[in-house]
Amino acid sequence: MPTSLPHDRPVLDIDPFSDAAVDHPIELDRAIRAAGDVVWVPKYGFWVTGRDAVIREVFNDWQRFSSAYGTGLTNVLRDEPWRKPSRILEADPPVHTPNRKVLARVLSIAAMRKLAEEFRITAEAMVDRLVEERRFDIASDLAFAFPFKVLPESVGLQPEGRHHLMPYSELNFNAMGPKNERYLAARKIVEEQGTFEYVAAQMAEENLIEGGFGSQIYAAAHAGEITHEDAGMLVRAFISAGIDTTVFGIGNTLMALIERPDQWDILRADPSLARQAFDEGLRFMAPSPVIGRTTPAATELAGVAIGAEEKVLMWLAAANRDPARWERPDDYDIRRKTVGHLAFGTGIHACVGQMVARLEAETVIAALARKVKRIELTGAPERIYINWLRGYHAIPVEVIPA
Ligand code: HEM
Repeated sequence: MPTSLPHDRPVLDIDPFSDAAVDHPIELDRAIRAAGDVVWVPKYGFWVTGRDAVIREVFNDWQRFSSAYGTGLTNVLRDEPWRKPSRILEADPPVHTPNRKVLARVLSIAAMRKLAEEFRITAEAMVDRLVEERRFDIASDLAFAFPFKVLPESVGLQPEGRHHLMPYSELNFNAMGPKNERYLAARKIVEEQGTFEYVAAQMAEENLIEGGFGSQIYAAAHAGEITHEDAGMLVRAFISAGIDTTVFGIGNTLMALIERPDQWDILRADPSLARQAFDEGLRFMAPSPVIGRTTPAATELAGVAIGAEEKVLMWLAAANRDPARWERPDDYDIRRKTVGHLAFGTGIHACVGQMVARLEAETVIAALARKVKRIELTGAPERIYINWLRGYHAIPVEVIPA
């Protein structure tokens, strides 16, 4: 945090982590975008940008905008982090490079092809059962249940103890933001139920089921590509960043499709558009709406002077509706060319799990589109209140079978 503020610092007086901001996400995004290319948020002492072109500049210059200080609000090189920083997400080259290379290989398109059939069988069975029930909660019973089943299996996590996964991830995404009530509540749950011990055990090689992503990562350590300690940290990355981002991405997409029956009809007529519907869902309502960088030295961004060791938050959700980049940005349109949305970031840290997230989402959304004619809300959807995520924990629906 700077000790003094120059008077000409452009200021935006908001609290993006308040409940009111969560309840009105589009208004928040609009305010951030409208405020300027990059503006100072005094309540927490960080810069924020919601403009596509400015965000690209930040993402594409890791020397000026570093990840090694942490991608949340804490400066992890100066202040005590809540856990050991990630060796991929919260690292710059050269630390980042070998870890990224290994994870990118484990999660490549070729690797996804091997999983596709297994995912399809699971998705079909899950959707068949729900269609028979007719009334269910599409957020918890599908958007949550599907990734929660297939991802831990793909990683090779033990079947026991998976109830720890969501609380851990929730703590992770709360810990990136201010140390508010949400963070304290999430931390209490995790401490009380022994989740840290569970995660530490899952990171160990001997506990990973052979053949999964986890054992493939350790194989790279045995081959000398990365250290054994880093292999464990990469397994942790799945637990931290791999499940609820996808859960809320699928939920947000389903919500958009429920609100737009015309788009659902287009999808039903051609379920191969499911991947496209998901990417447009991510553009329309990014589940991971913000990510940060820190300036190792004083610099300039879009003509604004930024001090050394200041945080710059990229409000991805706002950029994904930037009218300078997108036509009809507030329109959910599954036929749109979505290439270039920022929900997965871009540059050297662009989401390394995006292939698996897409495969999961595409499989489950396509299964639904083949079997369901109409989805109707039966109650009010309920949003989640997690500092650095956006989504729903409840979307009660009734489906009309095809
Ligand atoms: C819809 C689902 C997902 C969304 C919206 C999402 C979002 C993101 C974003 C925005 C970044 C960039 C972070 C940065 O630039 O600092 C990122 C990076 C990352 N994501 Fe994802 N993610 C998703 C799914 C996944 C999955 C399924 C995995 C694991 C299998 C995963 C693992 C990672 C990792 C390890 C990184 C760090 C990559 C690096 O630093 O090189 N994510 N993700």
